[in-house]
Amino acid sequence: MGNGIAHVCATSGFDVTMIDVSSDALAKGRATIEKNLERQVKKGSLEAAARDAALGRLKESTSLDAVAGASIVVEAATERKDLKFQIFRDLDRLAPAGAILATNTSSISITEIAAVTKRPELVIGMHFMNPVPVMQLVEVIRGLATSDATTAKTVELSKALGKTPVEANDFPGFIANRILMPMINEACYAVMEGVGTPQAVDEVMKLGMNHPMGPLTLADFIGLDTCVAILEVLHEGLGDPKYRPCPLLKKYVAAGWYGRKSGRGFYTYAT
Ligand code: CAA
Repeated sequence: MGNGIAHVCATSGFDVTMIDVSSDALAKGRATIEKNLERQVKKGSLEAAARDAALGRLKESTSLDAVAGASIVVEAATERKDLKFQIFRDLDRLAPAGAILATNTSSISITEIAAVTKRPELVIGMHFMNPVPVMQLVEVIRGLATSDATTAKTVELSKALGKTPVEANDFPGFIANRILMPMINEACYAVMEGVGTPQAVDEVMKLGMNHPMGPLTLADFIGLDTCVAILEVLHEGLGDPKYRPCPLLKKYVAAGWYGRKSGRGFYTYAT
């Protein structure tokens, strides 16, 4: 997700620094951006000069100190509370006073993340969808203390990135995953109970409901580990057994079958 967010920010004219603890991950992120920009140039939706300009606006750093000049930071780390809390404590210390600290979390509470900082009014959810350069939506999530000014600026920024912002309040899974994840989970139960094969489940939803991808292809695309993490947030946060992650989904994750990124999930992929 991080490289997709950097991609749209750079093509929209913003100077961007991608930060990761691993220089390999940064190199991979840049290579993915180059590949996706090239795809847009080939399709004729981006001029070659605009691609070169976007790449020129893109820097990388392995140190969080690089946020020192930022007006907004968009965090897109793994969906782990402890990790996000630590990152936000550090961002609060290192980013300029007044900078917005946004998180691309897909389900973790914005209010809780904001509470570890001394600027909760400047913390907000900015939830992009994968693949970021293609998908129109940005879910803008207000924590309990998020100010009107921070929300307005985030809505404006989303529009400047060519996206359509939709506001949501801070409840587990917000809007997108409150609705998407139970569907994916139910598709997993249908496979576990032998109602249909993964192919059959996906075909039904593609051909019968006009979904661009079947729910299990989509789960592989999102990452099965991410799906379990989101379902656990829904289950714990809402306390309703209907959100419990399907045992088959958990078993795949335990086996290291994370979907597309690990080469195997409900389907197999060339890595
Ligand atoms: N970067 C840039 N462009 C890309 C791209 C990328 N990573 N991936 C695809 N594209 C472009 C293609 O070039 C193509 O462009 P044109 O329309 O100009 O030809 C267009 O997107 C469609 O791509 P393809 O023709 O290759 O393939 P497709 O028609 O099968 O579409 C898809 C691919 C857009 C991914 C489509 O299958 C789809 O919409 N899938 C559902 C995606 C979805 O639901 N995403 C949300 C997941 S949930 C999430 O992200 C958040 C969370 O919290 C879990």
